[in-house]
Amino acid sequence: MPRPKKHLLVCTQARPAGHPRGSCQEKGCVDVFNAFMAEFQKRNLFQDYLLTSTGCLGPCSLGPSVLVYPESVMYGGVKVEDVAAIIDQHLLADQPVERLKVSPQLW
Ligand code: FES
Repeated sequence: MPRPKKHLLVCTQARPAGHPRGSCQEKGCVDVFNAFMAEFQKRNLFQDYLLTSTGCLGPCSLGPSVLVYPESVMYGGVKVEDVAAIIDQHLLADQPVERLKVSPQLW
Protein backbone atom coordinates (compact mmCIF):
# COMPACT_ATOMS: atom_id res chain seq x y z
CA MET A 1 0.00 0.00 0.00
CA PRO A 2 1.38 3.46 -0.84
CA ARG A 3 1.70 5.92 2.02
CA PRO A 4 -1.82 7.16 2.89
CA LYS A 5 -2.81 10.80 2.59
CA LYS A 6 -4.23 10.64 6.10
CA HIS A 7 -4.48 8.11 8.89
CA LEU A 8 -7.66 8.06 10.95
CA LEU A 9 -7.51 6.28 14.31
CA VAL A 10 -10.68 5.47 16.25
CA CYS A 11 -10.29 4.56 19.91
CA THR A 12 -12.16 1.35 20.70
CA GLN A 13 -10.76 0.89 24.20
CA ALA A 14 -12.91 -0.97 26.77
CA ARG A 15 -12.50 -0.93 30.55
CA PRO A 16 -14.29 -2.73 33.36
CA ALA A 17 -17.55 -1.18 34.55
CA GLY A 18 -16.91 1.47 37.18
CA HIS A 19 -13.32 2.15 36.10
CA PRO A 20 -12.49 5.77 37.01
CA ARG A 21 -11.32 6.65 33.50
CA GLY A 22 -14.33 5.17 31.76
CA SER A 23 -13.75 4.24 28.14
CA CYS A 24 -14.71 5.11 24.62
CA GLN A 25 -16.41 1.77 24.25
CA GLU A 26 -18.98 2.61 26.90
CA LYS A 27 -19.69 5.80 24.91
CA GLY A 28 -20.45 4.10 21.61
CA CYS A 29 -17.11 4.06 19.81
CA VAL A 30 -17.72 0.71 18.16
CA ASP A 31 -20.72 2.15 16.31
CA VAL A 32 -18.56 5.12 15.29
CA PHE A 33 -15.79 2.86 14.01
CA ASN A 34 -18.28 0.72 12.09
CA ALA A 35 -19.80 3.86 10.56
CA PHE A 36 -16.36 4.99 9.37
CA MET A 37 -15.73 1.50 7.96
CA ALA A 38 -19.02 1.54 6.10
CA GLU A 39 -18.35 4.99 4.62
CA PHE A 40 -14.80 4.01 3.63
CA GLN A 41 -16.18 0.98 1.81
CA LYS A 42 -19.04 2.91 0.20
CA ARG A 43 -16.73 5.67 -1.04
CA ASN A 44 -13.79 3.38 -1.80
CA LEU A 45 -11.42 5.44 0.37
CA PHE A 46 -9.02 2.66 1.29
CA GLN A 47 -6.72 3.49 -1.63
CA ASP A 48 -5.79 6.86 -0.16
CA TYR A 49 -6.73 6.80 3.53
CA LEU A 50 -5.95 4.45 6.40
CA LEU A 51 -8.58 3.60 9.03
CA THR A 52 -7.47 1.88 12.24
CA SER A 53 -9.20 0.94 15.49
CA THR A 54 -6.87 1.51 18.40
CA GLY A 55 -6.52 1.48 22.17
CA CYS A 56 -6.73 4.53 24.41
CA LEU A 57 -5.68 7.82 22.82
CA GLY A 58 -5.74 9.84 26.05
CA PRO A 59 -8.81 12.05 26.51
CA CYS A 60 -11.10 9.22 27.70
CA SER A 61 -13.64 11.46 29.39
CA LEU A 62 -14.33 13.14 26.03
CA GLY A 63 -14.73 9.98 23.98
CA PRO A 64 -15.41 8.55 21.57
CA SER A 65 -12.01 9.86 20.49
CA VAL A 66 -10.85 10.05 16.87
CA LEU A 67 -7.35 11.16 15.86
CA VAL A 68 -6.35 12.23 12.36
CA TYR A 69 -2.75 12.35 11.14
CA PRO A 70 -0.65 13.91 9.77
CA GLU A 71 -2.39 16.99 11.22
CA SER A 72 -2.63 15.41 14.68
CA VAL A 73 -6.20 16.65 15.15
CA MET A 74 -8.07 15.04 18.04
CA TYR A 75 -11.85 14.88 17.92
CA GLY A 76 -13.95 14.15 20.98
CA GLY A 77 -17.52 13.10 21.58
CA VAL A 78 -17.75 11.80 18.04
CA LYS A 79 -21.12 10.35 17.10
CA VAL A 80 -22.19 8.26 14.14
CA GLU A 81 -23.85 11.40 12.74
CA ASP A 82 -20.44 13.16 12.69
CA VAL A 83 -18.69 10.59 10.52
CA ALA A 84 -19.72 12.11 7.18
CA ALA A 85 -18.55 15.58 8.27
CA ILE A 86 -15.11 14.30 9.29
CA ILE A 87 -14.73 12.52 5.97
CA ASP A 88 -16.15 15.31 3.78
CA GLN A 89 -14.48 18.25 5.51
CA HIS A 90 -11.25 16.90 6.96
CA LEU A 91 -10.19 13.88 4.94
CA LEU A 92 -11.36 15.08 1.55
CA ALA A 93 -11.19 18.89 1.88
CA ASP A 94 -8.41 19.41 4.46
CA GLN A 95 -10.71 21.46 6.70
CA PRO A 96 -10.78 20.01 10.24
CA VAL A 97 -14.22 19.99 11.86
CA GLU A 98 -13.74 22.73 14.47
CA ARG A 99 -16.86 21.91 16.48
CA LEU A 100 -15.53 18.41 17.27
CA LYS A 101 -11.94 19.27 18.18
CA VAL A 102 -10.96 18.75 21.83
CA SER A 103 -9.62 21.77 23.67
CA PRO A 104 -5.93 22.65 23.28
CA GLN A 105 -5.48 22.04 27.02
CA LEU A 106 -6.25 18.36 26.48
CA TRP A 107 -4.42 17.80 23.19
S1 FES B 1 -10.56 5.14 26.24
FE1 FES B 1 -10.69 6.20 24.34
S2 FES B 1 -9.37 7.88 24.61
FE2 FES B 1 -9.11 6.71 26.42
